[in-house]
Amino acid sequence: MTSTLIDNIGELVTCDGPPDDPLGVRSAAAVVIQDTEIAWIGPRAVAPEADERIDALGAAVLPGFVDSHAHLVFAGDRAAEFAARMAGETYSAGGIGTTVRATREADDQELRSTVARLVAELIGAGSTTFEIKSGYGLTVDDEQRSVRIAGEFTPEVTFLGAHVTPTEFAHDRAAYVDLVTGAMLDACAPHSRWVDVFCDRGAFDADESRQVLSAGRRAGLGLRVHANQLQAGPGVSLAVELSAASADHCTHLSAGDVDALAASAGLAEPTVATLLPGAEFSTRSTYPDARALLDAGALVALATDCNPGSSYTTSMPFCIALAVREMHMTVAEAVLAATVGGATALRRQDVGRLRIGGRADMVMLDAPSHIHLAYRPGVNLVAGVWRAGRRVIGRVR
Ligand code: NIG
Ligand code: FE
Repeated sequence: MTSTLIDNIGELVTCDGPPDDPLGVRSAAAVVIQDTEIAWIGPRAVAPEADERIDALGAAVLPGFVDSHAHLVFAGDRAAEFAARMAGETYSAGGIGTTVRATREADDQELRSTVARLVAELIGAGSTTFEIKSGYGLTVDDEQRSVRIAGEFTPEVTFLGAHVTPTEFAHDRAAYVDLVTGAMLDACAPHSRWVDVFCDRGAFDADESRQVLSAGRRAGLGLRVHANQLQAGPGVSLAVELSAASADHCTHLSAGDVDALAASAGLAEPTVATLLPGAEFSTRSTYPDARALLDAGALVALATDCNPGSSYTTSMPFCIALAVREMHMTVAEAVLAATVGGATALRRQDVGRLRIGGRADMVMLDAPSHIHLAYRPGVNLVAGVWRAGRRVIGRVR
């Protein structure tokens, strides 16, 4: 067991403060990592000795970001679709079929190397925990290999066989739901922690979504829902009713949806509203009403939604900047949503905040304050990343 002292931290953002100051910022701080965990946090003036000492030179240090929503197992890209959209086309769920065709044609190694490339990007941008969904295979074998490959990179694997109905089932949707809740679920559940459904226009309706989620729960999976992205609808209320860990997108919310999410915040198994502003940015859509959610008391997370169609970014700092500029979140709210919010959306206690006994997942910025994450948009400020105590990115400051 080795210990590392990270000394001379100008601003330590723990995301573990009291209710009236959840960001928990400390200045002139130090942290000691012991093996994979945080062993000590305090004023640098009284920091204990350690085997190794790293001088942060006054930098800001935060918990590693928790990206609770990413679709990384796919082949090809949809750059032409993006360009057409920027020229006036609108986004629809139908584009998913393009990626499904490319993904089915790819071999395992090609899929694995795409995931590896995107995971390297995620970590390089400060994400130390990330979820990966399937959903571009949509056959039993292609979904199973998607969750298997995802599991090589993260324990947070989500089975999204119910992304859209593939063309070969277009005339028998019920048969596809039977497949997703039957043989496909049987093949994927052993490799997954979560089940997800795209409950929206052009994807699955409330009844179909309920079938998918209920079957996933019977198979021992936790629930997540793509909800209210393209239009107002039943996704959010279904997610709250079934105690899903997260309702994702939340772009078109009714007052009742906001109330339901806020009411669930006090429950033992709350439903987090996970906002994905990269999707609104890349589809040129109206951003979700984050203020309504936060002001009502809902739990809010930020995630990248990295996928080749609606949000091809792996950068949580970019999402933080969008959340602040476009969704009127304070910088503190955005940082909390990108850390402890994501952890809550994955029902994880060990990540998303810096505290003694927690996993030593940290980001050091090439900046004196977390505010620079939004104040310096588009600039790569990530100078150091530790995952479970191991330094995986270390740029010289
Ligand atoms: O979360 N909304 C559904 N799925 C993805 C988009 C997938 C795609 O366009 O390929 C999303 O935005
Ligand atoms: Fe998504």
